[in-house]
Amino acid sequence: MTSAARGASDHRGGEGTARPYTSADMRDASRPDVIIRPATPDDAVAISRIRADAWRTVYRRIVPDEILDAIDVERWADRMRPTLATPGSDRVHLVAQDQDADVVGFVLAGKERSGDPDHEGEVELIYVTPSLHRRGIGRILMRETAREMRAQGMRSMLLWTLRDNPRSRAFYERLGGRALREEYREWIRAYEVAYGWPDIAALIEG
Ligand SMILES: CC(C)(COP(=O)(O)OP(=O)(O)OC[C@H]1O[C@@H](n2cnc3c(N)ncnc32)[C@H](O)[C@@H]1OP(=O)(O)O)[C@@H](O)C(=O)NCCC(=O)NCCS
Repeated sequence: MTSAARGASDHRGGEGTARPYTSADMRDASRPDVIIRPATPDDAVAISRIRADAWRTVYRRIVPDEILDAIDVERWADRMRPTLATPGSDRVHLVAQDQDADVVGFVLAGKERSGDPDHEGEVELIYVTPSLHRRGIGRILMRETAREMRAQGMRSMLLWTLRDNPRSRAFYERLGGRALREEYREWIRAYEVAYGWPDIAALIEG
């Protein structure tokens, strides 16, 4: 185990979140291994940059240009830092980092926010560096999130994604998510669709 992995295990305890993955876990064996570790406030800029890169590429033509062109990474980072500084017992904040210690993906999750009676947890944000899509990093992040949620006593979860983003929908459907309902989001002027996992064991074992 690397020192980064060991430090992360010490930090979170429980089932442990610092899980070094070998190349065999990745789709492309030539890709660097990734380590999943808890996110810290120092990751806020890297996380916000990955999210901005994804919005500017994947969300183009789904979300209006004026919204994408106004993205301010530093402002996103400033808003995210307090959240990362106070993880809380019912939060999951993870990053995937490569062997150069560069953050290449992240997930923020917690309790379901709208009072949905059938789903206890919610993945609020999950993003992978666009140049590393389809290398298995998203699947690893979802699995580790489900493990953490289960360690916190949650058994089910949902998430929202852009309705007109076929790539993320294919990802969630591949991982066994079921489309639940749609809602319009005024702030991005787009529809989102919810995907649910009534039993997160499917994500852990699948
Ligand atoms: C959605 C996202 C997190 C997926 O992460 P990823 O690392 O690219 O996904 P994985 O490589 O783990 O994909 C696992 C499986 O999902 C399916 N999948 C993933 N991306 C897909 C795509 N673009 N098209 C079709 N299927 C896809 C595939 O079955 C894939 O397995 P395979 O590559 O062996 O066929 C990532 O693409 C991303 O950050 N997208 C932009 C931001 C976004 O939409 N985030 C969701 C916000 S709610």
